[in-house]
Amino acid sequence: MRRLYSRLAMCLLALMAAIHLPAQDTALPQAESTASPNGEVVLNVSVTPQGAPVYELFYKGKRVLRPSTLGLELKKDAGLMDGFSVAHVQRSTFDETWRPVWGEVAEIRNHYNELAVTFDQKAQGRQILIRFRVFDDGLGFRYEFPLQEKLNYFVIKEEHTQFAMTGDHTAFWIPGDYDTQEYDYTESKLTEIRGLMEGAIDENASQTQFSPTGVQTSLQLKTADGLYINLHEAALVDYSCMHLNLDDKNLVFESWLTPDAQGWKGYMQAPCKSPWRTVIVSDDAREILASKMTLNLNDPCAYDDTSWIKPVKYVGVWWEMIAGKSTWAYTDEYPSVQLGKTDYRKAKPNGRHAANNEHVKAYIDFAAKHGMDQVLVEGWNEGWEDWFGQSKDYVFDFVTPYPDFDVKMLQAYAQSKGVRLMMHHETSGSVRNYERHMEKAYHDKEDNIYHTQNRPNLAKLRPREEHHYGQWMINHYLYAVKKAGEYKICVNGHEAVRPTGLCRTYPNLIGNESARGTEYEAFGGSKPHHTTLLPFTRLIGGPMDYTPGILDTKLEFMGDLPHGQVQTTLCKQLALYVTLYSPLQMAADVIESYERFSEPFQFIEDVAVDWDQSIYLEAEPGDYITAARKAKGTNNWFVGGITDEQPRTANLSLDFLDADKTYVATLYADGKDADYQTNPTSYQIKKGLVTSKSKLAVRLARSGGFALSLIEATPADKKGLKKLK
Ligand code: NOJ
Ligand code: CA
Repeated sequence: MRRLYSRLAMCLLALMAAIHLPAQDTALPQAESTASPNGEVVLNVSVTPQGAPVYELFYKGKRVLRPSTLGLELKKDAGLMDGFSVAHVQRSTFDETWRPVWGEVAEIRNHYNELAVTFDQKAQGRQILIRFRVFDDGLGFRYEFPLQEKLNYFVIKEEHTQFAMTGDHTAFWIPGDYDTQEYDYTESKLTEIRGLMEGAIDENASQTQFSPTGVQTSLQLKTADGLYINLHEAALVDYSCMHLNLDDKNLVFESWLTPDAQGWKGYMQAPCKSPWRTVIVSDDAREILASKMTLNLNDPCAYDDTSWIKPVKYVGVWWEMIAGKSTWAYTDEYPSVQLGKTDYRKAKPNGRHAANNEHVKAYIDFAAKHGMDQVLVEGWNEGWEDWFGQSKDYVFDFVTPYPDFDVKMLQAYAQSKGVRLMMHHETSGSVRNYERHMEKAYHDKEDNIYHTQNRPNLAKLRPREEHHYGQWMINHYLYAVKKAGEYKICVNGHEAVRPTGLCRTYPNLIGNESARGTEYEAFGGSKPHHTTLLPFTRLIGGPMDYTPGILDTKLEFMGDLPHGQVQTTLCKQLALYVTLYSPLQMAADVIESYERFSEPFQFIEDVAVDWDQSIYLEAEPGDYITAARKAKGTNNWFVGGITDEQPRTANLSLDFLDADKTYVATLYADGKDADYQTNPTSYQIKKGLVTSKSKLAVRLARSGGFALSLIEATPADKKGLKKLK
């Protein structure tokens, strides 16, 4: 054993010796330079001796990126890689404050210094412009291709944007993949990625992973001297999604675009531009979570009237199918169903079809009773028997309901109770089929839709065999959002590309899954650190429909059969409504569970979904997050805290409360004996008065959490309640 260890140690030393990072404390020679408004982020831009555009980045005097080259390889010629000289530099400053339609905060400041550098490629007689924006919380830059004779339309072979690391940082990563982001995160050193890659790919992966050191963005990194660096992209429009490929000898990440079915990576016609490449940086992890840079790099709202876009809390006929108790399909008879040719009224019902009139009515009643805005129904439309698309015709038309689901009656019933239905469209990977039916489906259902794009383990999409994250599909996702917008419909995309802040421009893109959500808790579980990482990674581009709120974490509603359990305590499920920001929050468990756990369910009923203010009180990627948010248009606050597999104590100072007010605090905390594996549903609820001077120490169990509501006290509360201890 000892020999093994010493061998391992030698390997490690050998590895360390192999990484030779040049000493780079001096800045690039002859660089154009600009700093962020507060002067803490500094960017230098220049060209290498070969004429490749190059940039480097500093934060509070510390180097964030070593000189990193920029360029694109084209299908037809030498490309836009080198031979450049700086032709022109334009500097400007921008400062605006805007109000999002929904969000974590009521107002967002967009303040940056811009450096727009025009590079001449004299031998080819062409020009590109790289626009850099330096914010107090990082850098965004993009390529722009002005209209010109020698660069009219072109095909991208690869984009070569580098992010040269300063050391063997800790990374929180998921494997690169052109078709799914539904992975658990791995925490490792950069040099360990190669060795850990195989184990990081689970059975749900689509197997289109492209390189043993390829990872997805948003990528969160932490340096040995305490810098948090986040790499991602903003405003992904008409371009392929970017992955990062690590050169693990030199510790340089380079962009790696998703190819199309032929292997090309982008079809461009000037004038055009790339998405923004982003580097968020801070020495305080909480500032990464609070950063609004990704939103700021997107265009302002495209709609004049946004009154129809409303944050939503919803329940649904969903978890029971995911967990395996009931089915989306109406019948177990499996004639090869063909659209319009199967008469479902002649088929034998399987008795387990959940989207039936009585069951949906029960969810509508429950929603109405507990102040939920909408009821999601999956499996309401014909075709689930063959959603793999084995039949010749594509099965879903998104308008024809099963015989036991009466759309008109249920919509009227819901309306009479002040609730709305949320219709689900499973495209089953048949993208063109969806586009053909989309308009009619949107026209028929003037309601919020829930829009699952594609099955993740169907590696390629029918019929073009495109990847989920190639340019063609990127255009499809945005087409669906814009089309829905014409019908005043909101979209919640599930297996679409991970967001890049486009919800600023199109706020009807009210939800996205696009990561490993709660459904995986029924497919074997996610690691306890998962939800401490999502806000640092997936949520950098926009909110996530994580579908929290599984209070029966042991899945006892499934009966005595051996089945897995959710990898959190009950209270951690409550905390997620605050720590995982989303304007669309599901109470994902079945009604029976909420009736059984009616006391803690009260928090889910009370918690807001839209906010005036958000404060990240504590945060460390992969370990813990505590967030406090002030509900829109009120004086009420909600606090949530979560931890990974380590128990911890959150020490809260309630100094964010108004100094002249008293609040009724209701604390939902893990029970003394709670443990996510052995005793997940143990909880305690405490109620009492607090003020801005109050301090609380809350104990979190392993993979535990707590939730706290703070409601302005009435005179009666002040008389009747004691101080919270
Ligand atoms: C995967 C989605 O994430 C899930 O929400 C949905 O229930 C299934 N696909 C079926 O459409
Ligand atoms: Ca999914």
